[in-house]
Amino acid sequence: MKNRLEHLAIIMDGNGRWAQERGYNRTKGHEVGAEVVRDITQYCAKEPDIKSLTLYAFSTENWKRPKMEVNYLMKLLERYITKERDTYMAHGIKFETIGDISIFSSKLQKTLKETRELTKHNNNLTQILALNYGSRDEIVRAVKKVVSSGKEVDEESISKALDTPYSDIDLMIRTSGEQRLSNFLLWQLSYAELYFTPTLWPDFTTEELEQIIDDYKNRNRKFGGI
Ligand code: FPP
Repeated sequence: MKNRLEHLAIIMDGNGRWAQERGYNRTKGHEVGAEVVRDITQYCAKEPDIKSLTLYAFSTENWKRPKMEVNYLMKLLERYITKERDTYMAHGIKFETIGDISIFSSKLQKTLKETRELTKHNNNLTQILALNYGSRDEIVRAVKKVVSSGKEVDEESISKALDTPYSDIDLMIRTSGEQRLSNFLLWQLSYAELYFTPTLWPDFTTEELEQIIDDYKNRNRKFGGI
């Protein structure tokens, strides 16, 4: 039997290198990367099995980048989400975020909140953007929540207290050839299949995604069994 793919997660890496290789400013890579986000999201919305798509859009470490690049990414996010609202509605996509967004400008927070509210009844696909997200931070906050509620600390209570009480990840893809998790969904990736492709994110296509999904579907998932 082929594996079912319900929850796909992607570390979208390589925007900067893509731009630099072409003599552009790094921000050009992010701009083209946002278009790829659109294509991949629409593809996933059309696949009946895929219910969630979690994308690493901004990590807690990304604040270390030059201020100009951080500002550009914030503006791009704001622009992308505002522009995507029609697409979210047309394709039945629910928009969600994980991570601590309280640090973002009130304008961006408002856009995120309004988009979440607008799309909350859509049910083809949930697109979850990880924003100012770090997995260790998420786990620590979840354990604190469980302890302060007086519940027993166990796998179920922690899973439910995470920012992502959606489902475990089935497949995680990282682009650009780097082979590490970079503090992304450490708890939820426990039994995920991992796929690392050398393709830089702005060059990533739905055709390559299809090939990767095909590879995943034929893998032997054991979940610790034999
Ligand atoms: C990694 O490339 C990418 C990011 C840190 C940001 C991801 C952002 C996008 C894909 C575009 C905007 C997103 C949305 C949702 C609109 P990098 O800059 O680390 O590349 P490098 O490793 O080659 O320097």
